[in-house]
Amino acid sequence: MNALARIQQFLLCETPDTWIKTATLSENQGLLLLDHANCEKKAASTAITLMYRYVGDFEMMHKMSRLAREELRHYEQVMQIMEKRGIAYEQITPGRYASELRKPVRTHEPGRFVDTLIVGAIIEARSCERFAKVAPFLDEELQTFYLSLLKSESRHYEDYLHLAKKAAEGADIRERIQVFLEVEKNLIESADTEFRFHSGVLVS
Ligand SMILES: [Fe+2]
Ligand SMILES: [Fe+2]
Repeated sequence: MNALARIQQFLLCETPDTWIKTATLSENQGLLLLDHANCEKKAASTAITLMYRYVGDFEMMHKMSRLAREELRHYEQVMQIMEKRGIAYEQITPGRYASELRKPVRTHEPGRFVDTLIVGAIIEARSCERFAKVAPFLDEELQTFYLSLLKSESRHYEDYLHLAKKAAEGADIRERIQVFLEVEKNLIESADTEFRFHSGVLVS
């Protein structure tokens, strides 16, 4: 099974066709890229936060450092496309997705660390699934770019999941993963009021 197939099997639902339709409307192209740029920036920032908060595990620190560099590279690539297309980098509010997904994160350690890593794995997995699903409907440049992201985003998913298992020190984390996957499925399939990279089903 390839990496994308593993991710599709891991997530509880696929991106609804209605999201794809909204994302490919020409009037939403700028917003898609702008929110995508913000997501890459946030992904880098989250990894750096983990490097600060949990020192000691060299494997984790190396993986997070590399991940942050890759996300910043993606951020630069999205900005390049925005600049070329004359899309202004405006301040927009983030969607509900990440903040809602983080709500069940436990407040004590090591639960907080394990859960944060699980959330990281799920966000990477969804991003990968969404890039793959929307790519065929985009113009050639975006299609090539989005497909080029699949490889690193799927590795990020695997890395986060591996680190979550390691952080749990032998405890079974399947139940925790399930908790977050169910919240995630709901965020993807339920009605949402604003279009973002990780938004649900748009209602006007
Ligand atoms: Fe990325
Ligand atoms: Fe990533």
